[in-house]
Amino acid sequence: MASVVIVGAQWGDEGKGKVVDLYTEFADIVVRYSGGSNAGHTLVVDGQKLVTHLVPSGVVRAGKKCVLGDGMVIEPEVLLKEIRELKGKGLLQSDADLLVSARAHVILPYHKEIDALREEGKGALGTTKRGIGPAYEAKAGRRGIRAGDLLREGRLRELLTRNLEELNPYVERLGGTAFALEPLLAEALAAGAELKRYLADTSRYLYRAHKSGRDILFEGAQGTLLDVDHGTYPYVTSASTVAAGACSGSGLGPTTIDAVIGICKAYTTRVGGGPFPTELKGAMDARLRRTGEEFGATTGRPRRTGWLDVAALRYAVRVNGLSGLAMTKLDVLRGVSPIKVCVGYRVGGKPQDEIPLDPEDIVQAEPIYEDLEGFAEEIQSKREFDDLPAGARRFVRRVEALAETPIYLISVGPSRSETIVLRNPFRG
Ligand code: GDP
Ligand code: IMO
Ligand code: MG
Repeated sequence: MASVVIVGAQWGDEGKGKVVDLYTEFADIVVRYSGGSNAGHTLVVDGQKLVTHLVPSGVVRAGKKCVLGDGMVIEPEVLLKEIRELKGKGLLQSDADLLVSARAHVILPYHKEIDALREEGKGALGTTKRGIGPAYEAKAGRRGIRAGDLLREGRLRELLTRNLEELNPYVERLGGTAFALEPLLAEALAAGAELKRYLADTSRYLYRAHKSGRDILFEGAQGTLLDVDHGTYPYVTSASTVAAGACSGSGLGPTTIDAVIGICKAYTTRVGGGPFPTELKGAMDARLRRTGEEFGATTGRPRRTGWLDVAALRYAVRVNGLSGLAMTKLDVLRGVSPIKVCVGYRVGGKPQDEIPLDPEDIVQAEPIYEDLEGFAEEIQSKREFDDLPAGARRFVRRVEALAETPIYLISVGPSRSETIVLRNPFRG
């Protein structure tokens, strides 16, 4: 029996969906614990591509339980649409396989509107405009609306009235139109009626499942550097995306976790605003974006690309307590030579071995690069580490040494099968 947490070790889009799909083979339950439909997790099985936003990526394997935990923010319409689409594809055959925490907060139309209106102004962060920030603000401000509230008309009316009284003037100040109570209430109640069959005390469910020996996989969303506490603040999302968030966001205690695997690309990407010290410009940026198909799975925005930042990986190892790394997209570096890897920074002339996170330090930090020899051969067909070309093997081993963390898996293509497995976190 094991509980394993998957987290993004960079700025999101590391390939968590693909790795979660792979590891779901060994799990009974897959749990999303933070964020909402700002996430876009892609998996490719037998040539079929699927992008999930709210429902855990474990959903493609029949009979696995999928849980949306307490720490999530869920837009009911988006969840219902995703459920319909999954069912249309023959997935999620039983409603009993999906459990949604009654304590998860809901994203309502005014949250999305506020997010979008703010993004038109001076303080734009490059969010996904899915209402994530405003919904978490309401939660922290203790006036949020939770999934369970959608079933209680009296309470919902009261909560919505209070929220609109406070937020409508703000919406108007931002240039938007005030929201009317009754249509919002009617929509929310209708969504609640449809979601009712999935709502559960998921914390208690997970506790019992763990006690009875079930294997649990936690599917992180976003990435370490987007964490509200530990990321490149304020250019972050509003949730706890790190491994510890798996516990607070699911209601299962830390002593239940056996391993934490950080997913990293063989290079780095970032979508939205904020500092990115190893960012590339020009031909190499265009090349990585083209070869790696670096366009957002949620918003379609082009992703910014850069060299692999091992100083950032070291930080991810530390704040997540990573047991190991899974490296994705190694195939994309074919033909790139030399491959540059950031091994540390100089800030104000002083060397440091981790990415600096202070907003002033990070913009003036100079990356220190190590040049590694590349590889020219295709690697997408390789399934054994020893069959990789020498340049690819050296690159992987050097990253492992620099990050002082074992690599559990190497992904050499988007498909489930295009994977080299070195160690299995469910098998110790
Ligand atoms: P997530 O948000 O971490 O789940 O990642 P996304 O799905 O947003 O982005 C990762 C993208 O890379 C998706 O299009 C995947 O299909 C793709 N992908 C994952 N692993 C590999 C790989 O090893 N090689 C290539 N070429 N693509 C990959
Ligand atoms: P997955 O789970 C990459 C980024 C946004 C923006 C910042 C805040 O697919 O890896 P938000 O809408 O959350 O308020 O936006 O965070 N962001 C992501 N970037 N992958 C994601 O999810 C992201 N979710 C949010 O681009 O910079
Ligand atoms: Mg993504």
